[in-house]
Amino acid sequence: MKVFEDIAAWREERAAQKATDTLGFVPTMGALHAGHVSLIRRSRRETDRTLVSIFVNPAQFTDPADLEGYPRALLTDLALLKAERVDYVLVPRETELYQDGYRFRVTETHCSDTLEGVHRPGHFEGVLTVVLKLLQLAGARRAYFGEKDWQQLQLIRGMARAFFLSTDIVACPTVREPSGLAMSSRNVRLAAEDKVRAASLFRLLSESTSATAARTALEAEGFDVDYVEDCDSRRLAAVRLGGVRLIDNVSLEGHS
Ligand code: PAJ
Repeated sequence: MKVFEDIAAWREERAAQKATDTLGFVPTMGALHAGHVSLIRRSRRETDRTLVSIFVNPAQFTDPADLEGYPRALLTDLALLKAERVDYVLVPRETELYQDGYRFRVTETHCSDTLEGVHRPGHFEGVLTVVLKLLQLAGARRAYFGEKDWQQLQLIRGMARAFFLSTDIVACPTVREPSGLAMSSRNVRLAAEDKVRAASLFRLLSESTSATAARTALEAEGFDVDYVEDCDSRRLAAVRLGGVRLIDNVSLEGHS
């Protein structure tokens, strides 16, 4: 496994790769868990080589305390990636990735300010900008994203189409704990009793007959609800529990 901090060194390596080899790319912010691993395994199955990036992207955080408190676990992450037999890891430096000082940005004007965007203004601008940079650097045939972040996935798909990117965007199902709780890097910040309660999020989203009913049930169980909305056969929600923000979504067509 080759680890690159230097963007130029990665680009040299990429240029030296055989044109016939397909590359799969999994962008992450680290603190890796079984959700990330499912994307990596899929990439390893479907492509010749797999690149994983780890970069906690300041541009997508709206709350400095959230950025500060975001879990970081580089050494354990690298050990996990090695055990998963990942070929390349890119851990870019912020100064290099944002040599423009975030002067150039990708703005989407239709749904970036709905749902997550209402509560995290500028979030998707940060996500799309970093993902475009990373996709350009990776030059991969396929890039893998989780349905856990449904709105993010739709926006990245839209961007790839809008800018004629040559990487296929592949959607991967949400990996959950046995309790139903969607795996997330933020789950490590949940107190033990909140982790048990957090499992109700998935259950109530799946069982409730309407978004309004789901909101009422979630509030009754002590969640602070940012939103629950039904949108294109999907029910999406964000809640806060013990200071930790959780998002999830389920299909309204009988399976999640
Ligand atoms: P991060 O939260 O680290 O997630 C990296 C990828 O893993 C995303 O595509 C996310 O949807 C996927 N993922 C997270 N939890 C998952 C789960 N339980 N099941 C399946 N997939 C899951 O999302 C980001 O980072 C960033 O916004 C990023 C795209 C890297 C841009 O900075």
